[in-house]
Amino acid sequence: MKIDRVEATTIEDTRGRPTIEVTLEAQQGSTLHSNSQGRTLLRATASVPSGKSTGSHEALELRDSESGSVEQAIENVQFEIARAIMGREFASADELDAFLIELDGTPDKSRLGANALLAVSIAAQRLFAQAEGVPLWRAIATRAGTTPKAPRLYVNVMNGGAHADFKLPFQEYLLVVEGKTSEALPIAHEAFKKLGERLSSTELEASGVPMGDEGGYAPTFSDLQQPFKLLAELVQEFPGTSIAIDAAASELYRDGAYHLLDKTYTPDELLALYVHAASALPIHSIEDPFAENASEDFTQITAALGDKILIIGDDLTVTDPARVKKAAERKEINAVLIKPNQIGTVKETIEAVRATYAAGFAAVASHRSGETSDTFIADFAYGIGAHGLKAGGFAQSERVAKYDRLLAIEREAGAV
Ligand code: PGA
Ligand code: ZN
Repeated sequence: MKIDRVEATTIEDTRGRPTIEVTLEAQQGSTLHSNSQGRTLLRATASVPSGKSTGSHEALELRDSESGSVEQAIENVQFEIARAIMGREFASADELDAFLIELDGTPDKSRLGANALLAVSIAAQRLFAQAEGVPLWRAIATRAGTTPKAPRLYVNVMNGGAHADFKLPFQEYLLVVEGKTSEALPIAHEAFKKLGERLSSTELEASGVPMGDEGGYAPTFSDLQQPFKLLAELVQEFPGTSIAIDAAASELYRDGAYHLLDKTYTPDELLALYVHAASALPIHSIEDPFAENASEDFTQITAALGDKILIIGDDLTVTDPARVKKAAERKEINAVLIKPNQIGTVKETIEAVRATYAAGFAAVASHRSGETSDTFIADFAYGIGAHGLKAGGFAQSERVAKYDRLLAIEREAGAV
């Protein structure tokens, strides 16, 4: 395939910050939908999300300054990347990604920007899927060598941490919903609504429940148990659901201790808290239970709870195949969060998935806290047969779009 047009522009993410959108065009020789020269025009667009509680080992998101604009990243796509890829023959999306990685030439994508590279990489994956005449999820499954399957829904119901001014200590309280999307999604919606009613009926939130960055509620609680109690009630009412948390504990760690509400915890005390929660509550998974460099604490919690629940690495592993391998050797986790923009190309994201599966771990695909309407992550989750997809709460259409894409995929998959 030869790409003959590359466009990049700025759009706003859910936090109103600029991010990058790329459109690629290519010609394909075919009689189907042909233009006057007897060739098919292929056109694909992709935009990239942006994190807030980012791991320090993530690939670099190129921003111009504190203003946060992405003009340099856009310029890099429109000039250097466009000039390098246009008119060149690429046999596969993998070949194109390998070319992009080499063109950037840095280990953390800091020259051209992981945001610039990923937008091109995703749009290119879409072009190749179109050229092959297969749905995006199918093209991803073929490329990754995985068996497509509907992921569990990891629905963000309450936001805390950096996504809600630390009104709750843990960054995310999620409801995990099992089953096929068309059955799981209505259950998730109903549970979400019910929780909202309960939160707004408390005196604390009499003036309406605020919402957090990821489209879930952002209530204030004065003790750690209250949010878990509410979630445990929901799980009882809605069979096939369970609780997940993303502690995002790097954000809680200062001066050798973890700060949760008005108390500090040593790593051992925090571990005891998790062990107690996992025995008393229907907990499915805990993400980033300790700070990103607390290797031994990760190993300890996985030894203690790994046969019962998933211990997910996010800031710990940053979708980096080498870090996933290291985490496997050290038995730090038994599941990996997969976020394409932590590494910067679809090719390397797939390599991280391969390393995850090679270790016998589960993969949970994830959006970012600053999102766009791009639904690539839903196709990716389905294509790799992910254990789950974290796509946020229902208060933002950019999150709902991902769940709706899973519904569409269910129909597509049923039709073939
Ligand atoms: P982020 O949060 O996108 O702000 O990094 C998501 C997460 O930590 O899972
Ligand atoms: Zn996380």
